[in-house]
Amino acid sequence: MAEMIVTPWEVKGEIDYDKLLLEFGLKRIDEKLKKRLQKKLGDNIFLRRGIFFAHRDLDWLLDEYDKKNYFYLYTGRGPSGHTHLGHLLPWIFTKELQDAYNTKLVFQLTDDEKFLFSSTLSVGDVEKFTNENILDIIAVGFDPKKTEIYTDMRNAKDFYPQAVRVAKHITFSTAKAVFGFENDSNIGKIFFTSMQAVPAFIESVNKGKNVPCLIPHAIDQDPHFRVTRDILPKLGYYKPSSIQCKFIPGLGKDGKMSSSEPETCIFTIDTSKDIERKIKKAFTGGRESLEEQKKLGGNPDICPIYQYFYNLFEEDDEKLEDRFRRCKNGKLMCGECKQDLIPRVQKFMKEHQERREKAKKLVSKFLVK
Ligand code: TYM
Repeated sequence: MAEMIVTPWEVKGEIDYDKLLLEFGLKRIDEKLKKRLQKKLGDNIFLRRGIFFAHRDLDWLLDEYDKKNYFYLYTGRGPSGHTHLGHLLPWIFTKELQDAYNTKLVFQLTDDEKFLFSSTLSVGDVEKFTNENILDIIAVGFDPKKTEIYTDMRNAKDFYPQAVRVAKHITFSTAKAVFGFENDSNIGKIFFTSMQAVPAFIESVNKGKNVPCLIPHAIDQDPHFRVTRDILPKLGYYKPSSIQCKFIPGLGKDGKMSSSEPETCIFTIDTSKDIERKIKKAFTGGRESLEEQKKLGGNPDICPIYQYFYNLFEEDDEKLEDRFRRCKNGKLMCGECKQDLIPRVQKFMKEHQERREKAKKLVSKFLVK
């Protein structure tokens, strides 16, 4: 089995979420908490299927909400390339939270991060992807009256004075221990987590009073917020709460969907033909031959195609279960399963792309000047 690596910059191997939960010190979303969220969110697929599965201090945040101490949301994107399906998942959930709780959202684009951590991207490249990614963020459907998009470099005037307050409390040895930096890591990398901490308290700074914050994200980003949570009380702010999802896998074997392997990745700019080609070539949980598959059945547990139905493309639990069963029993072949998925992903992306086109006229409504 490939070794599991999960950091904000690298996710590899077969991911053992139970182990990560323990290693990171996260809490599982239990039935009670799930029901509490479902009261507002309704029968949400991401909660029902345990896709959003872990948290930090979410119960505290909801207690505060009940006391009318309302929270805001904060999430983000590192603009290192085009947006893919995996990035959309936490954003879709964030939109559902925004609608259900009627909250403000602060969205951060870490253009500085992607320049500092890449060996190939120039500042200009990152700026280009920032503009592209902004269209995807808007296309998710966030409320323009309640959403502010910041980019670290363009909004440095707001961000930098706050980031230095955080940085003063983080030693090099903490950064090394949490993120694995070495002595030859560039010093921008070592500073960077201070920038990702800022939106977790920027609303408190702007409002001049403490405002609770909830950060939805996939589990890879948690190390940043572990550090943030240690520092913010020292500056007089609340620790941010967070809620974590699992990863949508790439179309290859093991690991999350990642732009570094474009053929295993479904991007929001992909054409219907791209989508068809990539899905047809995808790794599956199928057997070597049709005969074997009929005799022994497939393995949906390791199959990215099944995961796509599970995460986004089959809302109906009974139909999903039926697909699982037919695969296991050797009744459903991989080719047929892929053919079922292709039009669903194509439709999803076509609709996203239509909204993405319209987003071009809306950008100024979302950006913080
Ligand atoms: P980035 O751009 O790598 O990812 C953006 C968001 O997508 C999540 N994610 C995924 N979720 C499900 N399946 C996948 N395959 C997948 N790949 C990525 C990430 O966890 C993230 O939530 N440094 C950050 C940007 C950032 C941020 C934040 C993210 C700044 N502030 C606050 C979350 C919350 C980054 O590079 O994310």
